[in-house]
Parts: sequence; structure tokens; C-alpha cells
Amino acid sequence: MFAIPVSDRASERVPVFHFNAKQTGRHETYIHSEKLPFSPKCCTFAHKSHTYILMSTYQSEDIRKVTTRRLFEMKQRGEKISMLTAYDYTMASIVDQAGLDVILVGDSASNVIAGNVTTLPMTLDEMIYHGRSVMKAVKRSLVVVDMPFGTYQGNSKLALASAIRIMKETGADCLKLEGGEEILDSVKRILSAGIPIIGHLGLTPQSINKFGTYTVRAREEEEAKRLLSDAHLLEEAGCSAVVLEKIPATLATQVASELKIPVIGIGAGNGVDGQVLVIHDMLGMTNGFSPRFLRRYADLHSIMNGAVQQYVKDVKSGDFPNEKEQY
Ligand code: KIV
Repeated sequence: MFAIPVSDRASERVPVFHFNAKQTGRHETYIHSEKLPFSPKCCTFAHKSHTYILMSTYQSEDIRKVTTRRLFEMKQRGEKISMLTAYDYTMASIVDQAGLDVILVGDSASNVIAGNVTTLPMTLDEMIYHGRSVMKAVKRSLVVVDMPFGTYQGNSKLALASAIRIMKETGADCLKLEGGEEILDSVKRILSAGIPIIGHLGLTPQSINKFGTYTVRAREEEEAKRLLSDAHLLEEAGCSAVVLEKIPATLATQVASELKIPVIGIGAGNGVDGQVLVIHDMLGMTNGFSPRFLRRYADLHSIMNGAVQQYVKDVKSGDFPNEKEQY
């Protein structure tokens, strides 16, 4: 568990330790070896003239597997839902252990893993490969796999066959499909097989060739009305949640207040029921992508670049491996 100062997060993040009765005879909390005047359940506390906020308290309190039912209950009690993408075993085990609620095996793998410009080239086999790798690592998070472009649009029988393949071959919990009324037949057929679905409206990257740009969607009244109506159609069909990407915050807030199912935003403001980001972006691995909605929680690009430069130097100079690093 960590505590970060509310004033300056990056530089003064410090570990917080809880010692339970088994170790100390009393339940005590320490920061930098100093005993602190707060209980472990407390979320903010003052220490050396700074106000700190505690991180990761949720994880330690609730280790039950997240289900679509639990996402619904989280919305009902006003608890925000945390969602990030992951595409491989190692990343999935990190985010699962960190207490993330939902892992999205997004078709953004096309951009950040495969190096494509759009998400359109992603195949069913590739999504299954990523989904299966993620599932091997996950104990608690709900795992959602994106149905790739061309596997569900305009043909509900193909959609069901594709959905069944993903569910059987990955063991994932849920699927995500982009679109509203135009894909409703596919949504209903997949749901009728007992497969949970999360919808995706607003900026839907699989339709980028129709939009022609990645700018904010549904600014005009007509498109906003259609989005609202699509969100209701997805809820009425039985979807478990809806992702809203890059739309005005006021519209997203309205959708979240009208729908009973959770609404998870990316570039959709703070009035929704949860947030999703692409993990490579929020960890600062992709340093050329800086949309306004993105908050970077680390600068892994610099850290990894520095580490590799040091490794190259050490190999070239003969410093690595040393005597202790050989057999
Ligand atoms: O594929 C993806 O990563 C997504 C998120 C941007 C929501 O769909």
C-alpha cells in the first residue's frame, strides 16, 4: 500500500505498512518507520505538514472475483469501476494483483502491440491469443475481450459463432462490441446464448474510416440523441455495461444517470460510473500519444529507455555479467 501527497504526487510517494496483531501484538500502521495516527481504513491523513491519500485500500479489503453482477451492484452503491487494457500474461498479473476491477483485452492491441495504425486488421485468432494469455494470469478482475472488426457486423449468426469461439478458447467473462442499433441483432443473438456483453458508443475506432477523424463525437444534437437512444437500446437488450469514448462530459453524465447499467468512460468526463484507459498510455510507454483525457501515472518510456541504454553500455564495456552473475 502507498500514500501519496495530494500536493505533489510523483516525487513523494511513500510506502505505508500495516502490521497486524500476529506480527506486533497490536494493529499498527507505519510510514517510513514512523507510527502514524490513523487507522488503515482511513483514506486521507496529515503527516509532516502534507496531506496524504492512501492508495490500494480497496484491493486489500475485497478479493472476491468481479462479475458483471458485481459491476451493477457497484453502480448501485456509487462505487466507481476501474478498468484498463491488458494483452499479455505479465501485464494482466500486475493489474489483477493491483486490485483493478475490469481488464479489457482491447483490440487496441492492434496499435500498441502489433504496431498497426488502426484496430481494423485485428483477427479473431489474434484476439483469442491475447485473451487466453490474460486469462492465465487473472484471479480477481473481470476479463472482457473485444470482438474484432468483421466478426459481428451485419451477420448475427457469424457474430454468435465468433463470440462462442472467444468464450470457449479464452475462458473470458464477457465480450465488448462497438456500435448501437446497427449491431443490435448480433448483440441480441450473442446475449441469447448466455454470453455477457459490454457495448461501446461514441468514438468507435473500428468505424474510423467512416468518421475520418479521432476527434470528439456527438457534439451535435442529432448525434447526441442517437447515442442516447443507442445506449437505451443496448441496456434494454440486456448488455451488462456500456463504454462511452470521447464524447462531451455532459452527454456522458446524462447517459450514466438515465441507465441502470454501469457506464464506463474514456475521454467522457467524471460523471460516469467508471473509467478505462489503454495501459500503455497511462503508464507512459507510448510517449507520442497525448490526448487531453489521458493522465500518465508513470513515465515507463524513459525508465525502460534508460535501463536498455545502461544494459548496452554494461555489455559493451564488459561490466555485465560480473563474477556473481555467472556459474
Ligand atoms: O480497444 C480498446 O482499448 C478500447 C478502449 C479504448 C475502450 O476499446
